[in-house]
Amino acid sequence: MEVMRTVAELRALLAQRRPIAFVPTMGNLHEGHLALVRIARQRAHCVVASIFVNRLQFGPTEDFDAYPRTFEADCAGFEREGVDVVFAPLEREIYPEPQGFAVAPPPVGDDLEGAFRPGFFRGVATVVLKLFNIVGPQIAVFGKKDYQQLMIVRAMARQLNLPIDIVAGETVRAADGLALSSRNNYLAPSERAEAPRLQRTLADICTQLVDGNTDSSALEGRALATLTQAHWRPDYVAVRKQADLQSAGPGDRELVVLGAAWLGRTRLIDNLEVSLPR
Ligand code: PAF
Repeated sequence: MEVMRTVAELRALLAQRRPIAFVPTMGNLHEGHLALVRIARQRAHCVVASIFVNRLQFGPTEDFDAYPRTFEADCAGFEREGVDVVFAPLEREIYPEPQGFAVAPPPVGDDLEGAFRPGFFRGVATVVLKLFNIVGPQIAVFGKKDYQQLMIVRAMARQLNLPIDIVAGETVRAADGLALSSRNNYLAPSERAEAPRLQRTLADICTQLVDGNTDSSALEGRALATLTQAHWRPDYVAVRKQADLQSAGPGDRELVVLGAAWLGRTRLIDNLEVSLPR
């Protein structure tokens, strides 16, 4: 496995190695990232993974400085999974000058996560497009854990005619149902024990939807109350259509239930897809 720090070195190396499957990350790897690498391995001979904590997608009060940086362990994980090239640029390699141009996501980028993290998807879309331009992959793999991000990257690839197949990886969960996330490292032991409640609350909505209770606002309201009673501070719980994350109407069957909530000082997100019976 090779580690590249600059765009020029990376491009010289990759010129020989197509087709390329790409897994962008911000490091602090867990099993969810490694599962994305395995998907990439199945689809291409050359797997490139990036480690770059992208300042552009953090708000002024968010955890950019505190975001866990675990480069050595990340490289060991990538090496074990057969990654061919790690691209781990310094910030000045990606942003050598103020980033005046940006990718403006469509209105869905201001909803759900975007409503609580203004500018987040603009920052994500901009760095993902830059990384796509630098790495030049034919395939790129993103996790369903960040469902809205996956949808926005897919829409960007489609609408900007990027010749890249965007592939989705399933959310990887701990035995108690908690979705793996770098931010789980922030949880105190008592919070870690409480954390699976978010997934359970979303799963309860899925059960009720399948049982024919399709009053989304009532289901969302009850879920928010459940979390609040358990001393969470929920940002949102929403039942949406999988295809475009718009509100679900009576005939819609392919749904996703998404939630974001604060547990102490840690913000957790999760989602569950659900197909309603005919
Ligand atoms: O999902 C992430 O880790 C980041 O948003 C990504 C896609 C690597 C862009 O910085």
